[in-house]
Amino acid sequence: MSTADGLIMVGSWNAGPAVERAAMQAARGTALLDAVVEGIGLIEDDPEEMSVGYGGLPNEAGVVELDAAVMDGRTHKAGAVAGLKGVRHAAKVALNVLRRTDHALLVGEGALAFARQCGFKEEDLLTAKAREAWLAWKASLSTRDAWIGPDDETTGFGGALWAGHKANPTPGGPPTPSTPAVPAPGRSGGAPKVPFTFGTVHVSALNAPGGDLCSCTSTSGLSYKIPGRAGDTPVIGAGLYTDNAVGSAGCTGRGEATVHNCSAFHAVVLMESGMSATEAALGALKRLVSRTIEARLLSAPGRPGFNVTLYALRKDGDAGAASVLPGYTYVRWRGGRRELLECPSVFPS
Ligand code: GLY
Repeated sequence: MSTADGLIMVGSWNAGPAVERAAMQAARGTALLDAVVEGIGLIEDDPEEMSVGYGGLPNEAGVVELDAAVMDGRTHKAGAVAGLKGVRHAAKVALNVLRRTDHALLVGEGALAFARQCGFKEEDLLTAKAREAWLAWKASLSTRDAWIGPDDETTGFGGALWAGHKANPTPGGPPTPSTPAVPAPGRSGGAPKVPFTFGTVHVSALNAPGGDLCSCTSTSGLSYKIPGRAGDTPVIGAGLYTDNAVGSAGCTGRGEATVHNCSAFHAVVLMESGMSATEAALGALKRLVSRTIEARLLSAPGRPGFNVTLYALRKDGDAGAASVLPGYTYVRWRGGRRELLECPSVFPS
């Protein structure tokens, strides 16, 4: 049996091409974590994916800042970068942090200097489409400044961009009036007229039931964030966590919530206690929900106005995912084929 035959992966809804590529590379003998990072590289290359890598939505100053992390179950070692500018393959830089340094996380200028030393190419990551989105966001900030808002002219500009944005946090479309989105910092919430995302790509992988585990996550993070904001993606234990004796987990969605709740670590601990992958994902999210207390984060009493999706994979091959809100999907690779599956959610409707 080749590595690829027993390969099991679970990941975010946008990870389909990544798991296909990872499986192909693993079948050729590439080490599993390298294969997953190469798969994630495809998503980082896609300018239409506005939540990851090249073409990701920028920070409030119009600069794309990337976060990424990897964790290798065999060595129980992680590598991560936060606030990386000008290098699209952030996950591969994170892999270099893991392989070439004794550190777990490099940030900002240090991460970029390290990437340069490793020979990564520098480029402007802001595409014309992402720049237009950023300008539309700026224009929507105030009616008392010199920016002309999307509603001031009948261009349909912001609405059209939002409607076509495949990485937005509600794949079914913008929030409906019955489930209003929570205003995010910077007044970017509500029913946004411009692309707005916590979108991220995650893959957890197992080379065969009982075998070795690893994980990888990459993102441009919260759109229009305060420069320097790192989300959960590079925070080991929050955005991802892999324990070769137990399983692996990763998160997408509002990073601040999973940072506050160590959600990926929590899901792995719940798998260690005997829960299935899906039960563990739901269990970690239920705790996150119960600790979401501030009124500004709630759309109804006890109900967060944001989503987090948690992906979980046990060492025995059981794979699953769950989301806080309904309507989210995840990718599972098993038996040599990928499926897009619906996530059970903490709030079924
Ligand atoms: N989960 C991605 C972020 O919050 O940056």
